[in-house]
Amino acid sequence: MFRFLLPVSVTLVLATTTGLFAHSGAKGIVLERMEAMTTIGKSMVAISKMMRGSKSVNASELEDHASLIEIHARKMTTDYFPAGSIGKLSAAKDSIWQDWEAFSAVATTLKDSAFQMQTHATKLAQNGITPEGKDFVSLFTSMKRTCASCHDAFRSNKD
Ligand code: HEC
Repeated sequence: MFRFLLPVSVTLVLATTTGLFAHSGAKGIVLERMEAMTTIGKSMVAISKMMRGSKSVNASELEDHASLIEIHARKMTTDYFPAGSIGKLSAAKDSIWQDWEAFSAVATTLKDSAFQMQTHATKLAQNGITPEGKDFVSLFTSMKRTCASCHDAFRSNKD
């Protein structure tokens, strides 16, 4: 069976950074973005399972996950972070709005990689499994890094 051969270390890191978060009390757009982040976290876990071989590779599911991530990444710059949407329950840092350009650049990087992954998944669905698997792994790894780099810069550790 074809495998993506994702390094185990990457999936372990993923498991710890996409754990469960308490949303209790959050409302409005803050709740909405927390739910969106949780959704894309689940998609990343599902993708990593396919790459690791613990779940069989399903190109159309991969496409769906990549497309979800793309949609939510796009909304990070248009909907999810209106100015001043901080508060006790939110881990969003002020630096998001102080350095909106850098914040949107990271969100755009995620959106672009998710789009590329979607394109690869479409090809995969059409042509079957091909050695393009390597591209998936590097895309996935860089997406993972993009999540982490935004969190490092713009999310506090209070949760
Ligand atoms: C452009 C910046 C940015 C990118 C890119 C980003 N995040 Fe986030 N993420 C945030 C911020 C800011 C928060 C804190 C939101 C809050 O508490 O209001 C957050 C919160 C989260 C949470 C916690 C949600 C909760 O319930 O409190 C998870 C899980 C998460 N992100 C997963 C991901 C994953 C997985 C990716 C990559 C596929 C990703 N994020 C990409 C900025 C980003």
